[in-house]
Amino acid sequence: MFYQKLDEFPKNFLWGAASAAYQIEGAYQEDGKGLSIWDKYAHQKGNTFKDTNGDVAVDHYHHYKEDVALMAKMGLKAYRFSVSWSRIIPTGDGEVNKKGLQFYCNLINELRKNNIEPILTMYHWDLPLVLQEKYQGWEDKRTADAFLKYAKVLYTNFKDKVKYWVTFNEQNVFTSMGYRWGTHPPKVKDIKRMYKANHIINLANARAIKLFHEIVPNGMIGPSFGYGPVYSRTCDSNDVLASLNAADFNNNWWLDMYCRGKYPFFTYKVLDSLGIAPKVTDTDKRILEDPLAHPDFLGINYYHGGTVQQNRIEKPVKDKNEEHQFTKTDPYLMQPKGDKAQNPEVPMFNNVDNPYLKKTEWGWEIDSTGLRISLRQVYEKYQLPIMITENGLGAKDKVENGQINDDYRIKYLRDHILAMREAITDGVDLLGYCAWSFSDLLSWLNGYSKRYGFVYIDQNDNENGTLKRMPKKSFNWYKQVIKDNGSNINEEE
Ligand code: BG6
Repeated sequence: MFYQKLDEFPKNFLWGAASAAYQIEGAYQEDGKGLSIWDKYAHQKGNTFKDTNGDVAVDHYHHYKEDVALMAKMGLKAYRFSVSWSRIIPTGDGEVNKKGLQFYCNLINELRKNNIEPILTMYHWDLPLVLQEKYQGWEDKRTADAFLKYAKVLYTNFKDKVKYWVTFNEQNVFTSMGYRWGTHPPKVKDIKRMYKANHIINLANARAIKLFHEIVPNGMIGPSFGYGPVYSRTCDSNDVLASLNAADFNNNWWLDMYCRGKYPFFTYKVLDSLGIAPKVTDTDKRILEDPLAHPDFLGINYYHGGTVQQNRIEKPVKDKNEEHQFTKTDPYLMQPKGDKAQNPEVPMFNNVDNPYLKKTEWGWEIDSTGLRISLRQVYEKYQLPIMITENGLGAKDKVENGQINDDYRIKYLRDHILAMREAITDGVDLLGYCAWSFSDLLSWLNGYSKRYGFVYIDQNDNENGTLKRMPKKSFNWYKQVIKDNGSNINEEE
């Protein structure tokens, strides 16, 4: 749908950028910080790209003032960062480490001094190692109890300084990678355990939100979910049905729980019949269905969606013209064939490539209209304000004559910001946009070869860079977008 004239971005729109503690801070053992599961995992050979780790990362811990000064120079209105739980409570559920709290207090003060709204993420994947070793991490409800204790420390210390809070970053991603595909810690490959851990995280999320509403009545809180719209490969109604199944399995499983306190009935029934659905007790239901335990806004991290068709794996394709290429996410490529309980989606839908979309160097589809679709779908369904808490392009940036000309990133961001403006014109209530990422940072599994930032940082996979910060071309471009409140991004271009 095209408009003669697009609506303006709201006056107080939060033009921001994001990061995560493990990917930027470094100082992994400094000032009393405990180890996290990522500290251990990345130190074990073969787990990450070229065995890169976050020991130093881009040393934001020691450069935070310089980094905030650059944010201010850019005119950033908001900055989303995460707190490292093991910096605050090194043993996960024991004593509070005052120096850890002080670091975030300093960072928040520095942001406020520069009129930058802090958006605080409580959990971006770096669980304190002690909790993994003592309780088996998220597979035990005692970890949820520990999270509540940690949440209370954060709320009481920062309630007057921080308005926007994010509970969990991409719960769908870290549970799948950690417990199903075995590519993140704790490196488990068992979908039943994934659903169990995920359910305990749902309880932690709901309890933390309820507590927030008691302690920080003027704040806003919600999870950041990795959302992807699902497309049907054809208009064959069986493919369309498959796309409904996939949306339920990939998105509603988490979003319905956050906003309604219930798993979607269809997917639950399938998982239950396979013996892998999480048990939901009456006490769980009381916690999850309590409206005070539901979010005030939804954080959406948007990179790409997916395309599906009806089950052709189990029902062989007869017509040769109908043959298709399976993507890398094809569940059969990632799991041993034939184990139905480990591959519950196979009968429901099969992932296929989308011939209409180009991909990044890492094979992620580029689909700005998908962002508008996502915003429409999520807003329509849950009627909550939305904040885009991540969106960006990973690329191999090059420094040439002291410059980084990342025109490709500018194009990517421009297209996505336009999609956002169109969604606002459609009527979506959008609070802000945090591009991923403010500066270059460590990619969990791609080291420093895949960069996202507006600011280049001289760091490399051997961790011996100078750590010099250099604004890229996109830095000045985004600065202008912010200055114009996005009015220069419109359909005519
Ligand atoms: C998101 C995460 O999933 O994607 C970020 O929240 C991450 O932490 C980002 O860095 C990009 O992922 P990658 O693998 O391209 O570095």
